[in-house]
Amino acid sequence: MSVSASTASSFPRASSSSSVLRGGGRNHGGSLLSGRKMTNDLSGRKTSFFPEGRRGRRRVSFLKTEAMFEKFTLKNPFQTDPAMKTKERYQPIVQKVNQLEQSISSMTDEELRGRTEKFRQRLANGKESLDQLLPEAFATVREASKRVLGLRPFDVQVIGGVILHEGQIAEMRTGEGKTLVSALPAYLNALSGKGVHVVTVNDYLAKRDMEWIGQIHKFLGLSVGLIQANMSEQERRSGYSKDVTYVTNSELGFDYLRDNLAQVPEDLVLREFNFCIIDEVDSILIDEARTPLIISGVADKPSERYVQAAKIADAFQKSVHYTVDEKQKSVQLTEEGYEAAEDLLDVDDLYDPRTQWALYIINAIKAKELQLKDVNYIVRGQEIIIVDEFTGRTMQGRRWSDGLHQAVEAKEGVTIQNETVTIASVTYQAFFRTFPKLGGMTGTAETELTEFDKIYDLSVQVVPTNRSVSREDATDVVFRSESGKWNAVRREIARMHKKGRPVLVGTTSVERSEAIARLLDEDGIAYELLNAKPENVERESEIVAQSGRKGAVTIATNMAGRGTDILLGGNAEFMARLRVREALLPKIVKPEDGDLAFEKKGNLGKAKENKWKVKDGLYPCDISSEASAALANAVEKAIANWGERSLEILEAEDRLSFACEKGPTDDEAFLAIRDAFTKIEGEFETFTKKEKEEVLQLGGLHVVGTERHESRRVDNQLRGRSGRQGDPGSTRYFLSLEDNLFRIFGGDKIQNMMSMFRVEDMPIESGMLTASLDSAQTKVETYFYDIRKQLFDYDQVLNSQREKVYFERRKALKSSDDKLKEVMLEYSEKTIDDIVKANIDTSVPVAEWPLDGLASKCAQYCKLMNDLTEDVLRAEASKGGVEGLRNYLVKRGKDAYLQKRGEIEALQPGLMTEAERYFVLSQTDNLWKEHLQAIKFVQQAVGLRGYAQKDPLIEYKLEGYNLFVEMMAQIRRNVIYSVYQFEPKRKVEEGPEQQQQGQGGDDGSIGSRKKKDKEEQVPLITG
Ligand SMILES: Nc1ncnc2c1ncn2[C@@H]1O[C@H](COP(=O)(O)OP(=O)(O)OP(=O)(O)O)[C@@H](O)[C@H]1O
Ligand SMILES: [Mg+2]
Repeated sequence: MSVSASTASSFPRASSSSSVLRGGGRNHGGSLLSGRKMTNDLSGRKTSFFPEGRRGRRRVSFLKTEAMFEKFTLKNPFQTDPAMKTKERYQPIVQKVNQLEQSISSMTDEELRGRTEKFRQRLANGKESLDQLLPEAFATVREASKRVLGLRPFDVQVIGGVILHEGQIAEMRTGEGKTLVSALPAYLNALSGKGVHVVTVNDYLAKRDMEWIGQIHKFLGLSVGLIQANMSEQERRSGYSKDVTYVTNSELGFDYLRDNLAQVPEDLVLREFNFCIIDEVDSILIDEARTPLIISGVADKPSERYVQAAKIADAFQKSVHYTVDEKQKSVQLTEEGYEAAEDLLDVDDLYDPRTQWALYIINAIKAKELQLKDVNYIVRGQEIIIVDEFTGRTMQGRRWSDGLHQAVEAKEGVTIQNETVTIASVTYQAFFRTFPKLGGMTGTAETELTEFDKIYDLSVQVVPTNRSVSREDATDVVFRSESGKWNAVRREIARMHKKGRPVLVGTTSVERSEAIARLLDEDGIAYELLNAKPENVERESEIVAQSGRKGAVTIATNMAGRGTDILLGGNAEFMARLRVREALLPKIVKPEDGDLAFEKKGNLGKAKENKWKVKDGLYPCDISSEASAALANAVEKAIANWGERSLEILEAEDRLSFACEKGPTDDEAFLAIRDAFTKIEGEFETFTKKEKEEVLQLGGLHVVGTERHESRRVDNQLRGRSGRQGDPGSTRYFLSLEDNLFRIFGGDKIQNMMSMFRVEDMPIESGMLTASLDSAQTKVETYFYDIRKQLFDYDQVLNSQREKVYFERRKALKSSDDKLKEVMLEYSEKTIDDIVKANIDTSVPVAEWPLDGLASKCAQYCKLMNDLTEDVLRAEASKGGVEGLRNYLVKRGKDAYLQKRGEIEALQPGLMTEAERYFVLSQTDNLWKEHLQAIKFVQQAVGLRGYAQKDPLIEYKLEGYNLFVEMMAQIRRNVIYSVYQFEPKRKVEEGPEQQQQGQGGDDGSIGSRKKKDKEEQVPLITG
């Protein structure tokens, strides 16, 4: 079964040097709303896209969130409106926070900051809980936000903050200010000192949020960390040790996996988890839930089994031993095939997960029947090279997965290459559930309410909007063919552009975005391209800064669908910051090694190229000579105070962010930069303000969608770039019946319609069509929901096992001498138990017990027990039966361990602990890795074997459990065996240097940090 449908995230990582700026406070012209039609339906009230019934009911709730929350005084006429219910429920807390506002606002900066320490103390005293501190803490953050960012969190944002703190999901519409909301619960929960993670979907947003919202925390005396994709282990450790850490889901997930492969405690980068806030929670927990995070490594060596299986496949006959389904590209063994294979291999069960023979045989038959030489692949030297079936091109370096490639190699008799195997894996579903408390925010969670509830135990609370949404979502326009659609998109862009309205065009791939760009080139319309290409990612904030300007056209892939904040008229603050950055950073950032080499070589021109320089024409106007002088002064002061070209990039960016906000400071350099920034912003603003007015009059940002996504939530996220914070705006989707969604999921109706409509350039209007579109999207949603549910159910089995193994592993990694000693004593006892159980059959008389064999078995496990004789055991057995025998042996086993430990410690203190830790970690990693392959095999096998009337999931759980128990026992046995066998070189025989080497030597003593081959395994049963 393959449930890991690949859905690579469409969010690229911003490189560390890319600039990340943010939008500032906004001025809302309420009057601008008047006269405009108020449409508040995120899901498109005017479109008939959503069927009535199940979804119709939810839609009603969207419609009723219109009332302006802050001005809401009348009795709510819509008692069932979830947003209003939320408002009522949290009203008492909001009131408390509001009541504190006046007294707190009269405090000095120092007093305000001092509250953090007081809160910490009150918590430490144990008399007050976080819940009790909440109103005061939130009021403190509100005040800090006012002072540092100039933003006063609205009441609805306070509500959102409480919901997050309670470990729930806050659904707040796009553009409502969720970024700021996270500051409230992050601050409160960080007071405990256990750390808070704020998770976003891409590096750009993590950095933006840290530089922006992080300032509130810093102002209040908390430490703030940021994790980016290309950071070192050291930087990560430091980032994660902070009170509040901004990070993406994938970085956090992989760090978790890597931590669970660490060989020494010093390698760990994460702390224990405490509280996590996930922004765009639906994207991470639902859209990405299908793709597990995997760390893979190279398997020890390719198995001999490929060759044997190839021989068997060769000898087998089609239709006798197996059947082939060409269309499905699958093969199946017949009853006769099974038996023949088991006979030939002399095994009892082809499906034994330890050997996994079935998989080898099936692959070998596939290699024989479905992979044909010179059609599907060619042989070049010792290599099998795949031929692309559509283009006929060879695909050097690509390999079929799950052992198929090796099977083909075996068939052709070439060298069998190493396999890669999973050494660690986790799904986001499982990973995020390991947090003791989890809160989430998104604009679009309500449609997935049940899934959040069932799988994550998270309830969704709908938060009312601060102002009513006045965006118009127009009816979809559908064409028969793609060409008709693109022509219409082109016309629409031209039309809006001509009016002067800014346009955001959403596309689903880089190719599509570039295709549209070419069309606009032909039309002579200037545009910006925001896609995953590195050169564009670097300029993300630059592009976003001007996307709202008059007549601007921005073509974006899904990356702009979430989180990006487009300000109408352009973002003066972003732009002013870019202007300062361009002048400042080249002078204060440490040159990279490459730059220096360049300069030394005399290539000054190239090296001096300013990588912070923005594209020509970005700024709305030149800056005045006064502002220029201020900027020059700022650069001079910064160099004087911080040194010339001496800061790390991150540090420099950080200082710049601070300088461009309002946080209090005495530092001359900060003050000078702030002065320059404020002047420049002011000059830019005279333009952007005017432009904003014009753009508002014209109707705001227009969003053009070019393809429906698999889920409506993602479409709504794109729509949400427009109509933010009460701004006017509009959206329209252009679709064609040839779009993937309809081709794959549309079914016959769509096919029929394709032939009915012959005209390419005329949009199709049809009730039947709309219904088909609806059902297509619903079908996809259900389809993926089922996959996720199945993945989850199967994953649960592995999850509980992973948790247990990681827990034990971590215990060994971090534990002290004494703890490890206890663990070893326990291992020794359990292993003796296993030996006794495996060798003594209590249903036969004592006289018949094979005690001689038992004695030698024990001696084989542990040399220190080689004095055991049959007579001694016989005496114990007749005295106390099997229990007496067991107790005696357990004592011997423990004594032996203590003796061993004593000897080794005498040789070199601390060595035993180090050895034990090494044994536990390497055995756990090795056997867990094997277990992962085995359990994957079982998962496939339960489907393959076709249990009559049995639920494959239950079978899987059962077999998975047995495998796990056996693996844990194996770990214990191997570890204690290694401990008993452990004999480091004698100290007296070596000089000090050799001693060091001896520790990592090849003498069977503890190894270097690298994992060694599997330890020898001793069977439990004698004979
Ligand atoms: N309390 C406030 N007062 C004034 N403006 C605010 C306030 N809170 C947020 N904003 C502004 O609202 C805009 C949108 O904020 P933000 O990007 O955080 O929204 P969001 O809810 O995260 O949207 P999305 O769902 O698109 O990610 C920003 O320009 C921000 O400055
Ligand atoms: Mg956001």
